[in-house]
Amino acid sequence: MKDLKFDRHRRLRGSANLRAMVRETTVQKEDFIYPIFVVEGEDYKKEISSMPGVYHYSIDRLGEELDEVVELGIPSVILFGVPKDKDPVGSQAYHDHAITQEAIRFAKQRHPELVVIADTCLCQYTDHGHCGVIEDGVILNDESLDLLARTAVSQAKAGADIIAPSNMMDGFVAAIRYGLDEAGFSHIPIMSYGVKYASAYYGPFREAAHSTPQFGDRKTYQMDPANRMEALREASSDVNEGADFMIVKPALSYLDIIREVRDNFDIPIVAYNVSGEYAMVKAAAQNGWVDEEKIVLETLLSMKRAGADILMSYHAKDAVRWLEGK
Ligand code: PBG
Ligand code: ZN
Repeated sequence: MKDLKFDRHRRLRGSANLRAMVRETTVQKEDFIYPIFVVEGEDYKKEISSMPGVYHYSIDRLGEELDEVVELGIPSVILFGVPKDKDPVGSQAYHDHAITQEAIRFAKQRHPELVVIADTCLCQYTDHGHCGVIEDGVILNDESLDLLARTAVSQAKAGADIIAPSNMMDGFVAAIRYGLDEAGFSHIPIMSYGVKYASAYYGPFREAAHSTPQFGDRKTYQMDPANRMEALREASSDVNEGADFMIVKPALSYLDIIREVRDNFDIPIVAYNVSGEYAMVKAAAQNGWVDEEKIVLETLLSMKRAGADILMSYHAKDAVRWLEGK
């Protein structure tokens, strides 16, 4: 044994303080964006069945949720408005006083310093549930761009600090950037969901946002989960068109993609820890099969380690409570 040569990695793991000193990645409250679902009506707060701990709020009840987020020190929320009335062209998406615009206005009035992000898409607002307009069952790319740009402008007018388009039409960043600039919003950043896969992990969200496509699927616009290089092409278009942040979505089964995007681009990267990822962990935790706190913090840490700068997660409030010992 005397001449045996090997490395002693355990030297740096000997105590909690030593481990803390050599820790490469951390998760902290400033990393988070918390998603919130807002519905029409009054005095409404109801848990979303497939997402325990996540609620639908009417605007008059939204204050309690926003206050909690701010009190925890989470810097940002993304708002998903769920309108009552839907039509083929998603009019409620770009109406200046529709649910999303009013929710943005309310949030900015209550907490001017909170970074309020608007999700910019048409699927919650169209009766067919697709992210663009449709003719004879076909999604019309360029016609959808005008409506998306209008939606972004009306969200910016309502006070949104960041526009986050999730529709996956080609040219959406260019169209929205142009629309915002023309309307005097050249200072408003675009957080592009440009690396977005056609994923089964969005199931609970679609229930929450009432945005399930009424026919077909989203595979002609969202990406094939089998593809890696395509993510680089998507990201590269968005960066060229002026995206200020890139979202990779989903996150957990796409950590390799987060790393690829991190290594190839120099803008901030957001990991969207989506609804299905949340639902799986919650279900296992409720059954007592996993330790929720440890599983969640390890999962979020892995997204940071993969290269994400920012975490969009339904676990945000719980995670911050655990991190801060609250
Ligand atoms: C809508 C949108 C979706 C999500 C965010 N914006 C769903 C979809 O594309 O069907 C998914 C979020 C989640 O699952 O948490 N364009
Ligand atoms: Zn959509």
